[in-house]
Amino acid sequence: MPRLARALERLGTETAFLVLARAKELEAQGRDVIHLEIGEPDFDTPANIIEAAKKALDEGYTHYGPSAGLPEFRELIAHTIAEDRGIDVSAANVVVTPGGKPIMFYSMLALLDPGDEALYPNPGFPIYESVINYIGAKAVPLALRQENAFRLDLDEVRDKLSAKTKLLIVNSPHNPTGGVLPPEDIRALAGILADYPDVWILSDEIYSKSLYSGQHTSIAAQGSLADRTIILDGFSKTYAMTGWRLGYGVMPVPLAEQVARFATNCNSCTATFIQRAGMEALTGPQTGPAKMRDEFRRRRDRLVEGLNAIDGIRCLLPEGAFYVFPDVRELGLDAREVSRRLLDDYGVAALSGTAFGAVGEGHVRFSYANSIENLDKALERIASFVDAIKGE
Ligand SMILES: Cc1ncc(COP(=O)(O)O)c(C=O)c1O
Repeated sequence: MPRLARALERLGTETAFLVLARAKELEAQGRDVIHLEIGEPDFDTPANIIEAAKKALDEGYTHYGPSAGLPEFRELIAHTIAEDRGIDVSAANVVVTPGGKPIMFYSMLALLDPGDEALYPNPGFPIYESVINYIGAKAVPLALRQENAFRLDLDEVRDKLSAKTKLLIVNSPHNPTGGVLPPEDIRALAGILADYPDVWILSDEIYSKSLYSGQHTSIAAQGSLADRTIILDGFSKTYAMTGWRLGYGVMPVPLAEQVARFATNCNSCTATFIQRAGMEALTGPQTGPAKMRDEFRRRRDRLVEGLNAIDGIRCLLPEGAFYVFPDVRELGLDAREVSRRLLDDYGVAALSGTAFGAVGEGHVRFSYANSIENLDKALERIASFVDAIKGE
């Protein structure tokens, strides 16, 4: 076979999909696996949204649409974001994409040149680092540590910002830690960024509605930062619509035009009947998301309590998303080995903290997108695993 592009050596991936494949393989051999690796709600998409998609198909929303999204949908998203975040945006600021993920790729392609520096959370969603490296920009990690409640270390941000910095990525509520940046941190960060007017901000707010206390605060609402912020949000997590592939970015118009041009080059447009279903999600009853959040809170409390009852594991109570990121350093194994043995020997699928960057060492990520019964079963298995390690 002729050789592949060298640039592929810089492209990362999302290990969650690899662990899922391994778990499925074990299940095919007849093993019972509890899935705590998955980053998607285990609930069905609310029925009103499914009905809206069917209706849209019947109405003929089966053709290409504009690359940036249906005008009426962009309008609605702009209105929703303006209300939720308290910022002044219109349809021209919105680009609709198949899932929130393309907003990362398209906006970074539009902003970063080789050699530019991009600050990103580590541990963090692995695609940030992957895309920065792929473009040939320099990925500069901002460490999130349990000792600091997984908040940004603002001194480190100050130290790492420089004339070369082109982009800063924030993600709150945060994957994989479930951490939330408190409003005072966001204000302080905005204060720091005031001295760096040439730095763009990618604010990944995909978990903005998976928040267990307080109000979501967007950095875009601070001072004039909306002029250089991309808000990434979507429907995957809030409305249990991961498989539909529906998300969007809200950003300054000149950038939105370029991001839409990438959409034209790559995916042409987002399926139009799915955008119509997205309109129902935003305008219809919000009881589905509220119920999900209540159930997630119950599970979070149960899982955190159960993990902390196991000697050798320390887990914070996360304020958002549906993940916990316990510290397993006392077990004396590296995080990959912990997750490998949990899956292979105990049938608990989880992700090594290092799947989210080097600073994730010493942690594993458990998703609580699974039933209380299964979480209880998983806790028993984790406790047996820890007992076995201590006996070694
Ligand atoms: C932090 C974060 N951002 C973005 C995404 C991507 O969401 P989508 O499925 O809408 O592309 C995910 C999905 O896991 C995520 O965890």
